[in-house]
Amino acid sequence: MNAKAAPLSLPEIDVEEFRKVVRSRRSVRRFTDEPIPDAVLEDCLELATLAPNSSNLQPWEFFVVRTPELRGKLAQACLGQNAATTAPVLIAIVARPDTWRKHARLALENWPKEEKLPSIVEKYYKKIAPIHYNQGPLGLLGVAKKTAGLVVGLSRPVPRGPYSVNEMKVWATKSTALAAENLMLALRAHGYDSCPMEGFDECRVRKLLNLPRKGLVTMVLAAGRRAENGVYNRQYRFDQETLIHYL
Ligand SMILES: Cc1cc2nc3c(=O)[nH]c(=O)nc-3n(C[C@H](O)[C@H](O)[C@H](O)COP(=O)(O)O)c2cc1C
Repeated sequence: MNAKAAPLSLPEIDVEEFRKVVRSRRSVRRFTDEPIPDAVLEDCLELATLAPNSSNLQPWEFFVVRTPELRGKLAQACLGQNAATTAPVLIAIVARPDTWRKHARLALENWPKEEKLPSIVEKYYKKIAPIHYNQGPLGLLGVAKKTAGLVVGLSRPVPRGPYSVNEMKVWATKSTALAAENLMLALRAHGYDSCPMEGFDECRVRKLLNLPRKGLVTMVLAAGRRAENGVYNRQYRFDQETLIHYL
């Protein structure tokens, strides 16, 4: 973005090491009792937050549960699934469709000190984002933006959203899911494993962890050391022709 920024030095990467991480990641349903060291967990969470995300607004939060009592209750809210009841760590990965305004300020405050803030970036966070992400009272601004988009979109490409509170939820969830995947791969790279879970009672999870009212629990991630019987079946995917389309 900044033409004067120092060129990034790219490290050598062994694709086979990356392949090992990706290929050995499985959804693990049983863990040993071994705890994940704090330093490992902190590193994985930091790597999670390096995921790409919309406008760098980082619309996610991670609620890490390790104490046995709270973990036990959370595992029950995860419907008593084996992954949840055996994991030494449970992490509620929460999308925040509502933090964009505060985070737009943070994006400016956190701009790297070594680099001059480009005026276009300042304008984006101060002027454009407040229109783009704000849906207004009762979502009426969103309706107005959608209508304007439909008209202007007849003659040129325009953004087609987010134009509603629900679209903001999708917006935040997209970035949060990428952070979740980073977290799972980071755990694997450290020799640990995970199981993403959407099988949980969201009302109970929210109440138990006292989560922010507008946060969406994208997943609860069970994490720990894979037990010998932790993987239930061989991994398989559909034929690439079904899923990948070269146009
Ligand atoms: C959003 C999401 C929700 C999931 N929810 C659960 C769950 O509640 N319980 C579970 O055992 N596995 C859950 N999984 C794991 C999937 O079943 C698993 O990823 C899939 O079967 C492929 O297996 P693999 O991850 O080992 O490749 C979930 C995965 C994702 C991405």
